[in-house]
Amino acid sequence: MRSWSGRLARLGRPRTRPNPGAAAPSPSPSSATAACKSSIKSIRRALHTTTPSSAPPPPSPNALVDWTQADPALPRDTVRLLPEVITAEEERRLVEELERPLRRRRLMRDHWDSVILHYREVERREWEDARNAEVVARVRGRVLALLGLAPDLPCLPVHVIDLAADGFIKPHVDSVKFSGGFVAGVSLLSPAIMRLRGEEGLAPPASMVRMLLQPRSLYVLSGDARYRYAHEILPDGEEEEWAGGKVVKRGRRISLIFRDELAAEGGGRPRAAPSLEERRGMGGGQM
Ligand code: OGA
Ligand code: MN
Repeated sequence: MRSWSGRLARLGRPRTRPNPGAAAPSPSPSSATAACKSSIKSIRRALHTTTPSSAPPPPSPNALVDWTQADPALPRDTVRLLPEVITAEEERRLVEELERPLRRRRLMRDHWDSVILHYREVERREWEDARNAEVVARVRGRVLALLGLAPDLPCLPVHVIDLAADGFIKPHVDSVKFSGGFVAGVSLLSPAIMRLRGEEGLAPPASMVRMLLQPRSLYVLSGDARYRYAHEILPDGEEEEWAGGKVVKRGRRISLIFRDELAAEGGGRPRAAPSLEERRGMGGGQM
């Protein structure tokens, strides 16, 4: 197990950053001069301090995306994480509607060679509760707007994954044959850590991005992060500490996955809808 606190211990204390959201009282002229002098000092210090390139700075304790070990060539806008895209009430209503169809599914436990373990999944085209339909449409609209895509871009039905507390998703690249240019997910019920790593032959394998997926947050992977990086949801207990020593304890987690439909060559729809397994693709390296 790679413990984040262990890494922090090796790297020294995290640098504290001023909170840009905090309102600062307007300083008196003398305190402004003193503040100015001390910030000049700290800039000088920063300029004369060399950090070894092998030791990335620890992320700010409040950061939800840890870029410290990412290849600088990975464009930052290919990984996005938006907190609280739905309210707790909307989360509760979605879970309420999903419980019944999920309960009818068998919990998949024994497929040791499968990408995902200890889970159930369903697909949702229609929602019984109109408010749920509205929430899903709103989130999908937000993803499309964020990526600068047309609001009527054909998308696949929502893929719902119910991951047991001891379930996890191994590194994989979503099928490039059966799903489109982005993968986005809303997390419900439990926090989890998603890790992206350079896919062999497509990006440096040491390049890594970690995301703390809080309930009600939305992540969006596109471009290189979607095609050249494998993503995974870590099992409970692995890298459970986030920066700042906060423990991420996994419980049952439900995710709503949004994907666009791959445009078939020459327009038109590709073929019969791909299965959920097909969309997810196989373990690392499948294409
Ligand atoms: C997938 C996947 C991640 C999640 O189903 O392909 O990567 O957030 N899911 O559940
Ligand atoms: Mn996936």
